[in-house]
Amino acid sequence: MFKTVEWQEGAVRLIDQSKLPSEVIYINCADVKSVAEAIKSLRVRGAPAIGITAAYGVALAANHISADSFEAFYSDLLVQCEVLAATRPTAVNLFWAIERMKAKTRSLRAKPLPELRAALVKEADAILAEDIAMNYKIGAFGAELIPSGAGVLTHCNAGALATGGYGTALGVIRSAWEKHHNLTIFADETRPVLQGARLTAWELQQDDIPVTLITDNMAGFFMKKGEIQACVVGSDRIAGNGDVANKIGTYSVAILARAHGIPFYVAAPSSTIDFDIDSGEDIPIERRDPSEVSTIGGKTIAPKGIQIANPAFDVTPAELVTRIITEKGVFIPSEIRSSR
Ligand code: MRU
Repeated sequence: MFKTVEWQEGAVRLIDQSKLPSEVIYINCADVKSVAEAIKSLRVRGAPAIGITAAYGVALAANHISADSFEAFYSDLLVQCEVLAATRPTAVNLFWAIERMKAKTRSLRAKPLPELRAALVKEADAILAEDIAMNYKIGAFGAELIPSGAGVLTHCNAGALATGGYGTALGVIRSAWEKHHNLTIFADETRPVLQGARLTAWELQQDDIPVTLITDNMAGFFMKKGEIQACVVGSDRIAGNGDVANKIGTYSVAILARAHGIPFYVAAPSSTIDFDIDSGEDIPIERRDPSEVSTIGGKTIAPKGIQIANPAFDVTPAELVTRIITEKGVFIPSEIRSSR
């Protein structure tokens, strides 16, 4: 089984998701600059995986800073944290993980530098281990919601590749598959970056879980034919009112699900909930390079000079979400604050 992110011999080791599925290669990031580049260019992506990687990035920074006092050390560390925080704006797990690493650093201010550095690697290891444990719990809670024989649609990749392991939405699908072995799993290809086609299809295939790949515009067709009984997606940030930011196209799936009377579930760990914001309106939406839209697999598919828009995420209002599944249980979206 592949490892999405890990600490190896003083570096952050990642499976390069930008190369999947045609090449399975690992990269070693030996400094904060290369960790930030990996996050920005989607070598590692998916909200929890971005958070874990950033946590290791902070540990990496600490390993390279030598200072005479804690104050000097911490002020250098904050500069490196800013580099990591500036990579992608939407997934709150990134900021959550950086804040946790900063808090750990402050709590160890009296310790000698070697001890502090080792403790930061341990803290990032803990974030990774906790994430995997949360995903198994999410999987178990979510599997209860998937009926035997169901067709299940997912969008983007909220799997092992997007997390420390097992996945959130794919954790639910994996758990449900272990229980029933008779599901039909549909993966939206997820234009423009094709996380569904390149990543979800690949990782389910690695696990011998049968998956049917469809283009994004086919979801309504299969819903109308009665072949989909549940939708399960992940999230990059959940607002206090239960609004959910996730990969662009998620909102359209939720609307289609509502029109066909199909439950729409969101699976996410509590590190994805932003209790500081009241509404999805306040979630910053990343705008990515137009070339992601004008090309597919390096081939240009649009006229030169055409105007292009490329929002990477959208917000699904809480009223379209049937339930939010976290490691703490299953919540009505408007009551997600009670999960704190
Ligand atoms: O741009 P990406 O690939 O980082 O977007 C990923 C998603 O939108 C996922 O669905 C989300 O992060 C949840 S991952 C468990």
